[in-house]
Amino acid sequence: MGRALFPGSFDPLTSGHLDVIRRAAPLFDELIIGVLNNPDKVSMFALEERCEMIREVLASESMTGARVIVKSFSGLTAVFARECAALAIVRGIRAVSDYEYELRMARMNRRLEPSIETAFLLAGEEFSFVSSTLLKQVFKLGGPIDGLVHPIVEARMRDKQLIPQHLAVS
Ligand code: PNS
Repeated sequence: MGRALFPGSFDPLTSGHLDVIRRAAPLFDELIIGVLNNPDKVSMFALEERCEMIREVLASESMTGARVIVKSFSGLTAVFARECAALAIVRGIRAVSDYEYELRMARMNRRLEPSIETAFLLAGEEFSFVSSTLLKQVFKLGGPIDGLVHPIVEARMRDKQLIPQHLAVS
């Protein structure tokens, strides 16, 4: 089934993202996790840290199906998808509330690259409320995030919290 691109900010990778990767992997020969470099957005993790973390998590997991690789990108997702020769852009849908935004993005991406389809995959129900933004908020306020992120990601978040903010990379 060729190559697909799963683009996102992944700041950080959540258990919901991992669930979508697991679901997408058997459908394609190669799945590229595209980590967006967005200099306008303040992120918890620098771009390279986000990529590294995803690679570490994937290396620790047994995944059936596609070869899964991690690449960073800047600019338009549709252009990056074309450069990667991806047949499809994969996006996870957690709930109906995601759909409207995702539909607009998919339509815009189709306008930019008509030959590339967007494939929506339903994330597992247990992750329907999990987002990077919410979990960072809970984490920063001292709430438990076990199960919402892979233990490798949780450890990195704890390390990050120990670094005084004025010394942190991002
Ligand atoms: O994980 P996110 O933050 O929901 O991912 C959103 C992402 C990165 C897929 C989206 O913001 C995106 O594609 N940005 C790149 C710029 C772009 O292509 N914009 C037009 C999208 S229609």
